Amino acid sequence: MPHLHVRPVRSETEIADWRHAHNVIIPGDPLSLDEVRERLGRNQLEVAYQGEVLVGCTTVRPPADAGAAAVVIVRVFPEHRGQGIGRQLYTRALEQAGALGGDGIETIVWAANTGGLRFAQAAGFVEVSRYLPPDEDVPYVTLRLT
Ligand SMILES: CC(C)(COP(=O)(O)OP(=O)(O)OC[C@H]1O[C@@H](n2cnc3c(N)ncnc32)[C@H](O)[C@@H]1OP(=O)(O)O)[C@@H](O)C(=O)NCCC(=O)NCCS
Repeated sequence: MPHLHVRPVRSETEIADWRHAHNVIIPGDPLSLDEVRERLGRNQLEVAYQGEVLVGCTTVRPPADAGAAAVVIVRVFPEHRGQGIGRQLYTRALEQAGALGGDGIETIVWAANTGGLRFAQAAGFVEVSRYLPPDEDVPYVTLRLT
């Protein structure tokens, strides 16, 4: 298996790749390029490649204040799952989130991604709340690392 390369989103190609991975894996919340650029201003975004092939992306959102949690979200394309990529990205993102301080670590999973829920629960996260956006059928589940 080719080596996994993970790097911060900087270039226009990386912005487009991060957006593509996000929008394919979270189709209920498609983002424009400008929305990704806006997130890049406040979150740590990374893209992951195996060789030249885009396999996933991550988001690490700093805590809003000292009493809030940092948020970690890992996304791997379905065809690249089950090979340990999610675990590697999660370990890296967790280290980044831990360096940001705040009160704990949370993740947010679109409930349709049942594998994502199982992955998060296996990693020690427990559900703390659900949010159903207006006019949508599937909630987003917030889980906290215990
Ligand atoms: C969650 C996700 C990142 C996992 O990616 P992946 O590359 O398949 O994960 P890995 O192959 O590294 O598996 C990591 C661990 O999770 C477990 N796991 C992964 N997918 C699973 C599933 N669908 N059901 C049960 N366990 C699962 C693996 O067994 C493995 O456990 P182990 O380390 O004890 O062997 C991927 O399914 C995804 O992108 N889901 C949609 C996005 C999402 O919901 N992200 C939220 C999680 S932060």
